[in-house]
Amino acid sequence: MKKLTIVLPTYNESGNIEKLINDIFAEQKNIANWELTILVVDSKSPDKTGEIVKKLQKKYHQLYLLEIEKAGLGKAYSEGFQYAFDHLNPYLMMEMDADISHDPRDIPKFVHGIEKGADLVIGSRYIKGGSIPKDWGLHRKIFSIFANLFIRFGFMKLTITDWTSGYRAIKSWVIKNLINHVKKYSGYLFQIAVIDEVLKTGGHVTEVPIKFKERKFGKSKISFIQYISGIVIYILTNSSFIKFVIVGLIGFVIDFGISYLLIEKLRFTVWVATLISAETAIVANFVFNNFWSFAHKKIEHSFKSYSGSFIKFNVVSSGSLIIQSVGIQLLVNFLGRKLWYLYKVLIIAFIIIPYSYVLYNKFIWKEKK
Ligand code: GDD
Ligand code: MN
Repeated sequence: MKKLTIVLPTYNESGNIEKLINDIFAEQKNIANWELTILVVDSKSPDKTGEIVKKLQKKYHQLYLLEIEKAGLGKAYSEGFQYAFDHLNPYLMMEMDADISHDPRDIPKFVHGIEKGADLVIGSRYIKGGSIPKDWGLHRKIFSIFANLFIRFGFMKLTITDWTSGYRAIKSWVIKNLINHVKKYSGYLFQIAVIDEVLKTGGHVTEVPIKFKERKFGKSKISFIQYISGIVIYILTNSSFIKFVIVGLIGFVIDFGISYLLIEKLRFTVWVATLISAETAIVANFVFNNFWSFAHKKIEHSFKSYSGSFIKFNVVSSGSLIIQSVGIQLLVNFLGRKLWYLYKVLIIAFIIIPYSYVLYNKFIWKEKK
């Protein structure tokens, strides 16, 4: 029988923990071919959450308790996972809030997702069938929805709808392989980093709908300012998409800079200058993208694979030059030339950027499988 360990981080959850543990073990009958164990990771809660767990351990032999210092949610999970690797040897692990915001009756859905072949199953509040609490204040709703949209577009990974959800199931060797990398992220960033790493290493991620309920007892430990600034910094430093946009801007500066120098100062023929500057920018972009934006899926080190990729890169880049010049000329013909720079910006933002990002991912820097 395969073992499932549910890791429950707790800090002052004395009003919730007993009911939750009872409700989780009640699900054992719905996942009969799995052996269910619970690991509570308690940060020395002053309200004696740990004592309640110790009392329940007499009733449930599959209930474990790890007591750690208080250092946030991410730390609680990474220590909990490490303990499970060392002592419990589960096939599957789950993350779940201990404040009854997550309904234990959803556990079988996660397990089925894994049985169908996913490496990570995320409980999403933003797909059909899922929801955020109706009684959340407007600002909290907007904040939650906006943060998730921001992450989706920041990573340009639109298929994941709930990056911060704390209800999920992950195969233990998948989390084992990335724990050293993600454990440096504290608090809620840990959740985002786990998804990002699973995707970057070619893992299969699916979502199931969950209805998130507001806690009845105790209070939320989330700090909004820390949360938002953390997300922005994480995306700026980790998103291939943002790095790709920055590389594009550098390319733009190189292209214009060289053209200006050759045309204005050195009096080159315009088409020759354009050819030289555009190709220099293309070479620079290729190098930056390979060693920075898409470093995690860098092309194999051989002359053959580099030259093949470089030719493809030139083809894609020429395609964007053609799209851009034809597009801008069409708009100018219809709408006049006064706002040409606006057309240029719009074409780059809405056509060129998605076009090249998709093609790079499809043909040049493919996902490692
Ligand atoms: N051990 C330990 N140590 N547990 C902690 C700590 C800590 O320092 N801080 C929080 N927890 C536990 C809480 O006791 C609870 O069981 C769970 O982590 C979630 O904490 P909440 O404070 O209830 O979080 P929330 O409801 O504001 O946040 C929810 O939404 C986030 C964003 O969507 C959770 O679902 C998060 O997982 C989610 O990332
Ligand atoms: Mn909560």
